[in-house]
Amino acid sequence: MSVDRVLSWLESNEQAGVDRLCDWLRIPSISTDPKFAGDVRRAAEWCAAHLRESGVDAEVRDTTTKDGEPGHPIVYAHIEGDASYTGPHVLFYGHYDVQPVDPIHLWESDPFQPVVRDARPGEPGGKRIVARGAVDDKGQVMMFLEAMRAWKEVTGKPAGGARMTILIEGEEESGSVSLEPFVKANASDLKTCDICLISDTGMLGRGKPAITYGVRGLAYTEVVLHASNQDLHSGLWGGRCPNPITELSRVLAQLHDKKRRVTIPGFYDDVVPLSKKERENWKKLKFNARAALKQIGLPPAADIGEQGYTAMEREWGRPTAEINGMLGGYTGPGAKTVIPSHASAKVSFRLVANQDPAKVTKAFFKWCKERTPPGCRWEFIDHHGGLGVTTPIESPTMKRVERAIKKATGKSPALIKSGGSIPVAGMLKGRLGIDTIFMGFGLDDDRVHSPNEKFELDCYRLGARSHAVLLHELIGG
Ligand code: BES
Ligand code: MN
Ligand code: MN
Repeated sequence: MSVDRVLSWLESNEQAGVDRLCDWLRIPSISTDPKFAGDVRRAAEWCAAHLRESGVDAEVRDTTTKDGEPGHPIVYAHIEGDASYTGPHVLFYGHYDVQPVDPIHLWESDPFQPVVRDARPGEPGGKRIVARGAVDDKGQVMMFLEAMRAWKEVTGKPAGGARMTILIEGEEESGSVSLEPFVKANASDLKTCDICLISDTGMLGRGKPAITYGVRGLAYTEVVLHASNQDLHSGLWGGRCPNPITELSRVLAQLHDKKRRVTIPGFYDDVVPLSKKERENWKKLKFNARAALKQIGLPPAADIGEQGYTAMEREWGRPTAEINGMLGGYTGPGAKTVIPSHASAKVSFRLVANQDPAKVTKAFFKWCKERTPPGCRWEFIDHHGGLGVTTPIESPTMKRVERAIKKATGKSPALIKSGGSIPVAGMLKGRLGIDTIFMGFGLDDDRVHSPNEKFELDCYRLGARSHAVLLHELIGG
């Protein structure tokens, strides 16, 4: 049967696939930094060219934000499929943009000169590709692209005859701000899709494939606390007027109470409580919170968070507030006695169903205002947000994905959730009623967003095979 030929094509062409991935990884498509806009476009063109080689008529479409500013391009394609195709119309989504590389000095090799190397003694796992974007998300999109290539090579038909739409964006890591207008403008096209498939999440562990049936939402803000109209000598002015760093810290220290619950009034109003069934199911996954902490250099005592919930429940099913960065005063080498004119913080919230990012952001700003330190004034910035989603686990497509993973990897996938966010999923659900199945192959220790991001070839292989078999399941194998 053709699926075996597709799988053996993948096997014999794996090295070529990895080489192709390395070419893509060499393009520094950092979406948040305007300096890289040209590279971001090049990465889109690269992806479209790869799809064209698989018989897919891919376009690189320009985008604009809702304020009319130019956005990064979207790689978009529709494959009509065989006239006899009766499977679901799948929308494959991925992102070709990557996170910034800082702190650059902690990289063992150039983030945009991918290195394929074995594990070092004591390092878990096997051969890996080290580069920015290796797993998030170029490497994972590549599993799909190579599966597409394999089907075209073996059957002569794009996607082996399945009906599909492909959307690969370049702004996921900067909040998908041009995607919303794109989804709106192309709603009538996108509405013809039955389900979205994303490979941008992780497995339960090494060799333990999983389907992620939900991700959290996000509300990302920045607050600036302004005090004097100039920086001041801390000997002359310290103790006489507000120090915005001290005052901002005092306010933000109130974000959590003693039980580590978020104190913003109404924050938990729309939170859907975890069901008993879900808590039981998760318990059965036997997640080892201590081992996970150990991997990141922490003792068991570090297992802290909202009281009354396990680490897994806190990550997958509970909302959180985090300070992602604070800036103010003198941060250079040596010492400088200064009271700065202002201080700022990046504060974000991970959300669960049915929390609304806009509502949470508004409530947070109001909460800050009510705590305005004497003589100070706030500046508020709403960066971006996205809804969380939960996917029904009983759908026919879910069954197809489960079967595909089982056939491709020899193991039944675990059903997991993730604490991360992928804004497109909320948009598709909210605007078009389309659910998303997340079939990802990353590992917890892949250093996503960090120096030395990696993707292990064993994971890549499982993913490429699973995508290839899934196409077979769709076609009706
Ligand atoms: N792929 C990640 C999200 C992710 C990682 C989900 C691992 C599950 C497991 C994605 O690229 C990401 O980083 N999303 C951002 C959201 C964003 C709006 C910047 C996030 O979660 O912080
Ligand atoms: Mn990603
Ligand atoms: Mn990411």
